[in-house]
Amino acid sequence: MYTLPSLTAQKSVRSIAILTSGGDAPGMNPAIRGVVRAALHQGIEVFGINRGYSGLISDDMAPMSSSSVSNIVQRGGTILKSDRCEAFKKPDVRASAAEILRARGIDALVVIGGDGSLTGAHLLQQETGIEVIGLPGTIDNDIFGTDDTIGFDTAVNTALEAIDRIRDTASSHERHFLVEVMGRASGFIAIHVGMAAGAEMILVPERAIEIERISEELAAARRAGTGSSGIIVVAEGPEPGLTYRLAQQLKEHGQDPRVCILGHIQRGGSPTGHDRVLATCMGAMAVSYLGAGYSDIMVGVRDGQILDVPLEDIIRFRKGLDPTLLELALQVHR
Ligand code: F6P
Repeated sequence: MYTLPSLTAQKSVRSIAILTSGGDAPGMNPAIRGVVRAALHQGIEVFGINRGYSGLISDDMAPMSSSSVSNIVQRGGTILKSDRCEAFKKPDVRASAAEILRARGIDALVVIGGDGSLTGAHLLQQETGIEVIGLPGTIDNDIFGTDDTIGFDTAVNTALEAIDRIRDTASSHERHFLVEVMGRASGFIAIHVGMAAGAEMILVPERAIEIERISEELAAARRAGTGSSGIIVVAEGPEPGLTYRLAQQLKEHGQDPRVCILGHIQRGGSPTGHDRVLATCMGAMAVSYLGAGYSDIMVGVRDGQILDVPLEDIIRFRKGLDPTLLELALQVHR
């Protein structure tokens, strides 16, 4: 459970808008529901913007009611749709977005998304004065200032379920599998999935990959009769294709691994109970923060405490893997 900050209502908010942006994440729907239900409870009107910033700049939005978020808490994806909007990177486009919000009498915008989406929210606030609150919605868990992001827990569990299945065939055929998980340039998903799946090895962008060492360890385990099959979890890294290249290099060293790219499977599915609670708390707190006069912040969580993180910090600082966790994982999983 989370400890919530005690906030005092400072200002009257009449109308807000909400959008989801960037790669979708399981838990975005409970977050939307949390925002909408908390806002309506406080007499605040809510507009749902379709397709992220693209919908904002084309004025594609509609009022939301309590029933428009009924029966969505268990659904993956986002009922508001999402996209990666290149146009919103331009200041003049952000200026026209602010005009659209003002013309509709909307006081503030709630943005649920990853670091790119939250950067857009920060720039909108700085350049136009539109009040913004961000919620960390990404399976990658790579946002500075928060221990957890909406969707991470579900993605880890989805990958885990897939790996448990891969283990059956790996074991039957006495093969090694390179299983690629998402996470871009960060190894959060890989470390958590690797630990939970009891992977024989975990390869993350934070550590150099040594093909010869990996190949020797696989061969030694085979010779010793301790590892005829196994799972090597690989973080996808910043460029596509890494895992296929690794498999090729291991082949050149006498190994014959199979590759399984889990890909977008990790982004879908019903959010776990953990993600539903996190998203609901964060969504409702976004409304409380607005009422307490906050803006240009993200709602985060640290050591179980829900708190505010300046959006500027999210842009300035990078969240790294905890080196102790990395060390521990590599001791157990190589
Ligand atoms: O940021 C979330 C994420 O799922 C990353 O893990 C992944 O690299 C990327 O999005 C994939 O993006 P897209 O769905 O646009 O291909």
